[in-house]
Amino acid sequence: MSIITNLTRMWLTRSSKPFVFKNEYDQQLPYADCDSLGLYVHIPFCENICSFCPYCKVRYSKELCDRYIDALIREIHVVGSQHTGKKETTSLYFGGGTPALAANRLKEIIDAVREHFVVTEGIGAELHPDNISPSVLHTIKDAGVTKISIGIQSFQRKFQGILGRTDVDAPAIRKALSEIPFETVSMDFIFALPGQTFHDLKADIDTAFQSGANHVAIYPFIDFTFTSSTVTAMPKKEKHALLNAITQYCLDKGYTRSSIWTFSSEKEAKYSSMTRDYFLGFGCSATTLLKDQFKINTFSVDDYCKRIGEGKLPTSLTTRFSVRQRMVYYLFWTAYSTKVDAGDFEKFFGVPLKRMYGMELKAAKLFGLITGENGVYSMTLKGAFYYHYYESFYTLAYIDKMWGIMRKEAFPEKIEL
Ligand SMILES: C[S@@+](CC[C@H](N)C(=O)[O-])C[C@H]1O[C@@H](n2cnc3c(N)ncnc32)[C@H](O)[C@@H]1O
Ligand code: SF4
Repeated sequence: MSIITNLTRMWLTRSSKPFVFKNEYDQQLPYADCDSLGLYVHIPFCENICSFCPYCKVRYSKELCDRYIDALIREIHVVGSQHTGKKETTSLYFGGGTPALAANRLKEIIDAVREHFVVTEGIGAELHPDNISPSVLHTIKDAGVTKISIGIQSFQRKFQGILGRTDVDAPAIRKALSEIPFETVSMDFIFALPGQTFHDLKADIDTAFQSGANHVAIYPFIDFTFTSSTVTAMPKKEKHALLNAITQYCLDKGYTRSSIWTFSSEKEAKYSSMTRDYFLGFGCSATTLLKDQFKINTFSVDDYCKRIGEGKLPTSLTTRFSVRQRMVYYLFWTAYSTKVDAGDFEKFFGVPLKRMYGMELKAAKLFGLITGENGVYSMTLKGAFYYHYYESFYTLAYIDKMWGIMRKEAFPEKIEL
C-alpha cells in the first residue's frame, strides 16, 4: 500500500524526499500573513470509547476535562497573543472526542478565542447523538455555536450493533432540533459496513433530512490497524457501486455535493473543518497548517497539560515543506471539495497550475477523472471514487502510521512518511 503513496508522492513532488516529521517546533507561529485561516479546537473526551474510532480521546472525567480546558485556554492565549490586534479567521470548529461533554465551558473557550481572533463564518461543534437534548443545545447555542454535526453512524439497529453503539432516538433528535434550530445541522454516517446496501443508506439519508438535518456526511469505513475494531472492510467493487448509487441518489434529489463525502439540502448549509488554506489547531492531537510548515500537538492529555504549564507549546512533531510538497498538500485538500480553481492555486503559489501539473491535468482529463471549464477543474463521479480510493491508501499509509505511533509516544523523535 505504501508503495502507491510513496510513488505518487515522489512523482508529484518530483523528489525522492519523504515527508519528515521531527520533534522540534517554533514557539512563535507565523500565521499573521495567512489569509483564509481556520481554527480548530480538540476536546478529547468520550463517555464510551468506540472500538473502530481512530481519534485522540480518553474516557471522560470531570477533573481531567477541567484541567485540560484550563490548559487549552492558556494555549489559545499563548498563540493568539503573538499577533497584534485581532486576526481575521473563517471559522472555528470544535471536534473530538465529544465536545458537548464540556458544553458548560465552551463559552469560556470561545471568549478566549474572540480576544485574539474574529470568526467570520460561524462556529461548529461535533456532537454525539446522546448529547442532543434541549438543555445541551441551548447551552452551546448561547455560547455562540452556529453549526452542529451529529455522529449518527446509522439509524438502524443492525449497524449500530456492528459498530458497538446504542440505538439513536430519531424522533427525540427531531423534536430537540425543532425547538433549538442551528444554521447547519449535519449528520455523520459510516458507509461500506458489512452487508450495507443502497437501500440501507438511502433510508438513513432520508431519515436524516426528515429529522432536522440540512447536511449529511457519508464517510467510508476505514479499518485502522491500531484500533480493536472487528468490522470487516467492504470489497472495492461493491464499495464503488454503493458510492456511485448513493451519490447519484443525492444528486437526483437536488442535494448539493459540497465535498467528496458531503451533501446539503440547503445551499448555505456547510460543515467542513478540512478545506481551508491554513489552520491553527488547539488541544491534543490538533494540527496546524501554515505557509511552509505543518505541526501536530501531542496526543497525551497529561503531557499536553504539562507542556502548557511550563509555558511551552504542546507541539509534538513538525514537518517543513518544500514548495512542491506544499503544492501536493494544497491540491490534495482542495480536491476534497471536488474542485480545484487554477486561479486560486496561482494566487497562493505565484505560478500557474498548468505549468506545475499540466501533464497530470491532461492525463486526469483523458482518463475521465476531471473536467475543466474556465480554469476550474471538477471531479467526475469516477474521479471522486478514485480520489476516495487513493485517500484510503493515504490514510492507511500516512495517518494510520503516524497516529499509531503518537498514541504510544507523547513526543516521538522523528517520523518519516
Ligand atoms: C469525533 S466523531 C463524531 C462525534 C461523536 N464523538 C460521535 O461519535 O458521535 C467523528 C466521526 O468520525 C467518523 N469515524 C470514526 N471512526 C471512523 C472510521 N474508522 N472510519 C470512518 N469514519 C469514522 C464517524 O462518522 C464519527 O461520527
Ligand atoms: S466515534 Fe465519537 S464517541 Fe466513539 S470513541 Fe470516537 S469520538 Fe468517541
